[in-house]
Amino acid sequence: MDAHLTEWLNLSIRWIHMIAGVAWIGASFYFVWLENHLDRRNPRDGLSGDLWAIHGGGIYHLEKYKLAPPRMPETLHWFKWEAYSTWLSGFALLLVVYYLNPSLYLIAPGSDLSPAAAVAIGLGSLLLGWLVYDLLCDSPLGKRPALLGLVLFLLIVFAAWGFSRVFSGRAAYIHVGALIGTIMVGNVFRIIMPAQRALVRAIEEQRTPDPALPAKGLLRSRHNNYFTLPVLFIMISNHFPSTYGSPYNWLILAALAVIAVLIRHYFNTRHGSQKFAWALPVGALGMLCLAFVTGTDRSAAPAATASAATPKSEFAQVEAVIHERCSVCHSAKPSSPLFASAPAGVMFDTPQQIQQLAPKIQAQAVTNPIMPLGNITQMTQQERDLLGAWIAKGAHLD
Ligand code: HEC
Repeated sequence: MDAHLTEWLNLSIRWIHMIAGVAWIGASFYFVWLENHLDRRNPRDGLSGDLWAIHGGGIYHLEKYKLAPPRMPETLHWFKWEAYSTWLSGFALLLVVYYLNPSLYLIAPGSDLSPAAAVAIGLGSLLLGWLVYDLLCDSPLGKRPALLGLVLFLLIVFAAWGFSRVFSGRAAYIHVGALIGTIMVGNVFRIIMPAQRALVRAIEEQRTPDPALPAKGLLRSRHNNYFTLPVLFIMISNHFPSTYGSPYNWLILAALAVIAVLIRHYFNTRHGSQKFAWALPVGALGMLCLAFVTGTDRSAAPAATASAATPKSEFAQVEAVIHERCSVCHSAKPSSPLFASAPAGVMFDTPQQIQQLAPKIQAQAVTNPIMPLGNITQMTQQERDLLGAWIAKGAHLD
């Protein structure tokens, strides 16, 4: 497909995905907040609590029924399209970015996996993920939520590890996100919505609703609640090369997920008690530790190659490498048919541009072998070391 058209397709779908996602997660956070702030002290008959709020210049009074109002209202608002459209647009984005260009974005550089096989692994894992998750929730494990949570966590970490064996770092991360996102939407579509429909039907027909369905819905929506923060990180993760670009990217993701779940837990429980207030400083400390362990040891590797006396000036060699391995894409006029303009606005046309971008070159091509995408221009380790040595010495132009 034409590169310019792909970019605008990407832009439009990504924008929709973001808007829908904000609406979904926003609504979800709001209802958790509502539930946690209900005043349950002296509820009116049939109510479990109420709440007063002021927003946008108006005062609201909300009441929650234990089960249902004596008469069903004419309009009952449902929240489902936020979830469905988030998934649909996310799936479309997965197709446009990763499955349309598998050798560039999806497959691990140097892997001999065929594009079709890689796409099949991606799609298959989303379906399999949902089936396994659904089965586990309905199994006897479903009665032991803490143990179930642990098992789910370990399985997701296992999936992250598996993806990182076959996919590029960013594709591995995005597939963990897509897997969790699919489970979340599956919960809405297959469990929570049917349970709510059954509840409304029972009330309308003046039957006693089956209590099993809401209980099932509650477990699933609790999972969705804890999934939100890890998924949100994954969705912005491709800005952070020291996470997905590391050989231990799956472990780093697991650690970030633990922190995210802890923080979510604090926010879920803080209304009742401050028992989990320690989660905030522990989360912050965790982030510090991660920043430390994902840092590079700049004193090590490159020196060896640098000491070799070379006739050509060091920068001339660097420039030659960059032009050979990077400029097909990173130029004001990319020669690669895949890009109409320089990706991420990064151009290596002049020595000054290369020098200015040295820290980014370090992050994308030296510390983590993320660039060239899919190592499509077959950059060697010696070349990465050469760039690293030049940057370590101050990235001078002579
Ligand atoms: C096949 C095309 C291609 C090649 C070759 C390539 N890149 Fe990139 N590069 C991209 C794309 C696409 C992006 C934008 C990634 C994204 O979507 O976030 C990018 C982004 C970048 C960024 C910006 C990252 C950021 O988030 O700010 C840097 C820096 C970069 N590349 C450096 C390099 C270097 C150095 C090389 C050569 C060693 C190289 N690239 C080779 C396609 C390429």
